[in-house]
Amino acid sequence: MTRPDYAALSAAALEARGRAYAPYSHFHVGAAALTASGRIFLGGNIENAAYPMTVCAERVAIFSAYAAGEREIVALAVVTPTDEVASPCGACRQVIFELAAHCEVLLLNLAGAQRLVTPQDLLPHGFGARQLEESR
Ligand code: THU
Repeated sequence: MTRPDYAALSAAALEARGRAYAPYSHFHVGAAALTASGRIFLGGNIENAAYPMTVCAERVAIFSAYAAGEREIVALAVVTPTDEVASPCGACRQVIFELAAHCEVLLLNLAGAQRLVTPQDLLPHGFGARQLEESR
């Protein structure tokens, strides 16, 4: 597998951020998921007046890829409007751990700072299908 085009993926995450629906927090996040087939799926965070219904940008992008039938995410870029690059929330870490298990995660801010991490960096000792299988 050739190295993902992180410049293109970062640009896609920025574009996705422009589609965020965040009228409550005003914290606009963008994510872009690159699949093994070379397609890029965008996600902005989508909030709701019933706050817990909110879905983060990462999950919108990953679920969009899965909804399109994709199963292998090779890279995920996430851009947040923070001084330092921000890490995904706990719920997204769990989703990344299972649905984008072998991807590289590029965390970015608007100033261009970036950090490349793995799902294992984000969620060491994560719970997954293996634990369910061990009980059978
Ligand atoms: N949010 C994301 O979309 N991704 C993150 O990594 C952190 C938080 C969203 C959820 C909510 O809409 C807003 O940012 C504030 O928490």
